[in-house]
Amino acid sequence: MCGIVGYIGKVNAASVLIGGLKRLEYRGYDSAGIALLDGDRVTVSKASGKVANLSERAHSNWSPELFQKATIGIAHTRWATHGPPTEVNAHPHLDGSGGIALVHNGIIENYRSLRARLEAKGDVFLSETDTEVLAHLIGDCDKGDLFQAVCDALHQVVGTFGIAVISSREPDRIITARRGSPIVIGVGDGETIIASDASAIVAHTQRVIYLDDNDIAIVTADAVDIRDLDNVPVTREIAELEQDAAATEKGGFDHFMLKEIHEQPDSLANAIRGRLDLQLGSSVLAGMGSSQRELAELSRVVMVGCGTSLHAAMVGQYAFEDLADIHAGVQQAAEFRYRNPILGSRDFVIAISQSGETADTLAAVKEAKQKGAFVMSLVNVVGSTIARETGRGVYLHAGPEISVASTKAFTCQVSVLLMMALRLGRGRRYSRDEGLKLAREIQSIPSLVQQVIDKGEMIAEIAAKYLDNEHAFFIGRGPMYPVALEGALKLKEISYIHAEGYHAAELKHGPIALLQEGTPVIAVACEGPAKDKTLGNVEECRARGARILGIVTEGDHEAEDVMDDFISVPRAHPLVATIPAVVALQIFSYHVARLRGCEIDQPRNLAKSVTVE
Ligand code: AGP
Repeated sequence: MCGIVGYIGKVNAASVLIGGLKRLEYRGYDSAGIALLDGDRVTVSKASGKVANLSERAHSNWSPELFQKATIGIAHTRWATHGPPTEVNAHPHLDGSGGIALVHNGIIENYRSLRARLEAKGDVFLSETDTEVLAHLIGDCDKGDLFQAVCDALHQVVGTFGIAVISSREPDRIITARRGSPIVIGVGDGETIIASDASAIVAHTQRVIYLDDNDIAIVTADAVDIRDLDNVPVTREIAELEQDAAATEKGGFDHFMLKEIHEQPDSLANAIRGRLDLQLGSSVLAGMGSSQRELAELSRVVMVGCGTSLHAAMVGQYAFEDLADIHAGVQQAAEFRYRNPILGSRDFVIAISQSGETADTLAAVKEAKQKGAFVMSLVNVVGSTIARETGRGVYLHAGPEISVASTKAFTCQVSVLLMMALRLGRGRRYSRDEGLKLAREIQSIPSLVQQVIDKGEMIAEIAAKYLDNEHAFFIGRGPMYPVALEGALKLKEISYIHAEGYHAAELKHGPIALLQEGTPVIAVACEGPAKDKTLGNVEECRARGARILGIVTEGDHEAEDVMDDFISVPRAHPLVATIPAVVALQIFSYHVARLRGCEIDQPRNLAKSVTVE
């Protein structure tokens, strides 16, 4: 969603800020803006659409001298919430005097009452945004000390924020603060960079400080002074970033999505490496704690997540029940806290999130902790809010995922969930022999995935036959049901074809009414206990004229024969097979979208991490 970059230091701020915004483009946005301090005034450039538009606008608005001399500024990419993505609604927003500029991620929930109060005092607002209200509120509180003004304003705010503020009256500092929306501060040599995401910092420094909720920092070129909102100093460690700048570049691929699909053998190897115990037929996941006894006392697994992460949780549900004989449930994170879930100390709540910033998943974590559950996270982004909020968890080690459409995070999530289920299972009824067999299969996942990637060209040829339909169905049973859901999500988000995933048995309960001659049905029918029944459902679709693309197990001629087209994936344990099967669907969706001329990495209306409810 929205992205923040701030810079104070020794080089020209505009280049650093525009470069940083470009690195945040993957998060999804629809307008952008930048504010620089030009002597004793704040100057702002904004544009709707891409950062490239903003760059053009800034170069025509500002003289080359200003570009060279301004060494402090803030910038933003906006994903519209309050008001359309117009130039006037883009950030930075100014206070009433025009001397204070603010960029903001999050939502000020009480902005209407604050705005009415300020309007009654004579303030005039230019935009429809909640952010402009906060800018005016800071201006209203400013009695000569910007830090204190921001504290006083934030005390009046209900909602979430990650902010950066500059003032023409205090040109040596940026004030930044967070509550529920991340802020990372990059500590360089005579320069400091603020961002909502480390990707914007990594090209400048590897040394970062993550702010905690309700932290506020006075940032200068040489120092970072962090306090709480009551002005009490707090200490935050400097961490080393693990990623390098190259990881956030396309590396010769046409799209980040394709690059990330191709990275999966490596990212899966990283997710699995050192985590299997091939003596005990179990797994070693330090983040789950070291006590088998503690794990044995758990009576239920509850997984929460959204979107792709929710689909990974659904595969995990089959794994926990099959391998560990433990009740396992999945809850959409947005629903979790509002339904007042019944939870206790024997419930094992796993929050699943690539970004570690999804607002609903974070809220679910807080609720589960409140109710005394054993909470941990399964997160990709190191140091993210959910990882820090849970305090206990397992990182995916998938590497940065830039494409909005999640690929490698899903396959790593499923792999780690399989290893977690294996460990729980070995503490229960799963035997050493069974454990060893599964552990070896998990170890082979990177090579299974590589075999599917190697079929890329063939899959592209099949994709070319499915371009012209505006609707598609994905069906599956057992663990292939969430794979069907994930396949449908991939296709709809990047190709804009209306695609729905259904349990194969559910078609007859309504959706089959929509089938017509040539309607695509993508059937995930790999070998496993439910395969024959899925093939039966495929026959029902064929009888109504549907065109069937099957994801089948290599050498399964019975399945091949009922499909119009098929992509075969290597034979594997039915839970493990979910991973090569989904990779086939990722590649299929990618090529459909590419051949339809879609943007792919930044689909319309979507954001990489959804930081609002
Ligand atoms: C899927 O391709 C999307 N990127 C989306 O569904 C995503 O999985 C969801 O928003 C959850 O994000 P998270 O994993 O970062 O929490």
